[in-house]
Amino acid sequence: MDYEERIITTNLKTDEESIELNLRPKKLKEYIGQKSVTDNLNIFIEAAQLRNEPLDHVLFYGPPGLGKTTLAGIIASELGVDLRITSGPAIERAGDLAAILTNLNDNDVLFIDEIHRLNRSVEEVLYSAMEDYAIDIIIGKGPSARSIRIDLSKFTLIGATTRAGSLSAPLRDRFGVISKFELYNLDELKLIIKRSADILGIGIDENSLTELAKRSRGTPRVANRLLKRVRDFSQVKGSGTIDLDITKETLKSLGIDDEGLEGLDREILNMIIERFNGGPVGIDTIAASIGEDKITIEDVYEPYLIQIGFLHRTQKGRMVSREAYKHLGIEYSDD
Ligand SMILES: Nc1ncnc2c1ncn2[C@@H]1O[C@H](COP(=O)(O)OP(=O)(O)O)[C@@H](O)[C@H]1O
Ligand SMILES: [Mg+2]
Repeated sequence: MDYEERIITTNLKTDEESIELNLRPKKLKEYIGQKSVTDNLNIFIEAAQLRNEPLDHVLFYGPPGLGKTTLAGIIASELGVDLRITSGPAIERAGDLAAILTNLNDNDVLFIDEIHRLNRSVEEVLYSAMEDYAIDIIIGKGPSARSIRIDLSKFTLIGATTRAGSLSAPLRDRFGVISKFELYNLDELKLIIKRSADILGIGIDENSLTELAKRSRGTPRVANRLLKRVRDFSQVKGSGTIDLDITKETLKSLGIDDEGLEGLDREILNMIIERFNGGPVGIDTIAASIGEDKITIEDVYEPYLIQIGFLHRTQKGRMVSREAYKHLGIEYSDD
């Protein structure tokens, strides 16, 4: 069975998600970019296989949509082992985790998404599972309660999080490999979009590839999403092959500008300019003024705004750059 069908989660799969699964690379050589992450992993995977030992526990961190879940699946498939997928919020009680852990076989991979959202009692079970491949379970209540130790198979935990800083130190310390995911560059995004277009069976010209790549916020998930929308437009209105006119029309209708900014990006920048004269202003104030969750701003919006140089992080808070003023067509003043 394919790893994607083994998701242990209560969420229903949306249409969008099922397309995303089709576009997901299955082998390391199909996986584009993140060289510093994959080069190291390649070696660790080979070494683990040579010794017939489980791979060391791995932590992936970085903004959403950069390929963490995808890479976890690839690792399991390269190792030729089973993958179990769950997430921090889905594991409510220590017993839930124990049930998952006791069902693993030697060298299997357990993937825990949003691992920073595990609750404390569950996290504590994970410590001994990661370190000793064993867990202690309390049986019974009151004076007759006793603890029994259950041995586990030697598994690999792959944890993913958008924020490594929210992980408790004892948990973080138990990962042998900690890898940071970076936003993708234009060439990588073009390759990803081309690959997806081939899988979806749609032609796309070079200019459109470049245009879509530029407006994808350095994020493959966004790139694939835009490609699907452009495909819809081109099938309904155009020739069925994606060209620059259709691409631009689609992006315009989605409210995505030349720099790949969408409504909320512009709202954040405009708000800082209008209410705080361009900053510096603290993230909490930004979140409150926009009416958006602080974590969403930090994890989803800010990385890209910082990457393209529109927002700077300083000791005193966030500042909008001169380039951002220019992009928004607002006159810059020094005072
Ligand atoms: N390196 C990559 N090469 C090709 N496609 C990728 C890559 N990384 C991500 N993708 C695409 O982007 C989508 C989102 O990736 P995913 O692994 O779900 O991100 P994350 O778990 O980091 O949020 C995947 O469905 C996949 O199609
Ligand atoms: Mg994911």
